[in-house]
Amino acid sequence: MFSNLQKKWHVNAAQVLLILCTFTLGGSITGYAGRKIMYFIPINSGVLWVIVYIILVSLLWPLAVLLVSYPLGQYNFFKHYIYKIGVRLGIMKTKKINLAVFASGGGSNAEKIFEYFKNHSRIKVSLLICNKQHAGVLAIAKQFNIPVQIIERGLFLQGDAYLPILKEKNIQFIALAGFLWKMPPALIKAYPGKIVNIHPALLPKYGGKGFYGHHVHEAVIAHGEAESGITIHYVDEVYDHGETIFQATCPVMPGDTAQTLATRVLELEHTHFSQILEKTILTNT
Ligand code: GRF
Repeated sequence: MFSNLQKKWHVNAAQVLLILCTFTLGGSITGYAGRKIMYFIPINSGVLWVIVYIILVSLLWPLAVLLVSYPLGQYNFFKHYIYKIGVRLGIMKTKKINLAVFASGGGSNAEKIFEYFKNHSRIKVSLLICNKQHAGVLAIAKQFNIPVQIIERGLFLQGDAYLPILKEKNIQFIALAGFLWKMPPALIKAYPGKIVNIHPALLPKYGGKGFYGHHVHEAVIAHGEAESGITIHYVDEVYDHGETIFQATCPVMPGDTAQTLATRVLELEHTHFSQILEKTILTNT
């Protein structure tokens, strides 16, 4: 019943209920308080009364819903909701959305992302998380002046060890661009619907543990597939499993090696990842 709202707001069914309760209670408090306050405002003209009342409830409403949202555990949702309305009305300035890129290797996708968002009006790449001391992506981040955090396996797998760093940089969205470690549940929970991965094959085929790098392309060729491609998907607790956001295909040519197929697939990644990321971030934050 609430599935559209769940999708739109990226919350679960219980949260939809709590959000709707907040709207209702906040609205009632606003109406009640508005009328009480109007008793003390000496206005004779009916039209003027209505105008002042509308202004008053418009000011009271955000306060009332924020107040109610707190005990109902929906404060963050409403803070963000009211901020968005403020931006639309031109009352508040847009703050850039901070994106963290996670990468383990050469970083050609990360580079495309850094380039794409370099002068973006709404999104800023604020952090690169990397698990390898000498990964090529580190030099690329340096060129773009992007702060880097090298992470350590034991701590990362604990789950929330690196959350303070992400929070300190106010990271709101995460892109996995060739990041080989599995995301721990605590991170996924901290960023629900806000972590996106790119996989160099058409999921659900050729995904999961062990399907990375050349292994993916070798399997595609070995199975005699006529086409391969890319999948951009949300990240959940299972490898290469979250909801698909976008796929693009390319042919597998006779005589293809893992290397030639990888080059064709990588081209697709470079063409699409940043744009799909942009769309996904802007609709989900
Ligand atoms: C890409 O093929 C990506 O799909 C996969 O890892 C590779 C990373 O390549 N997840 P690069 O480091 O971005 O060049």
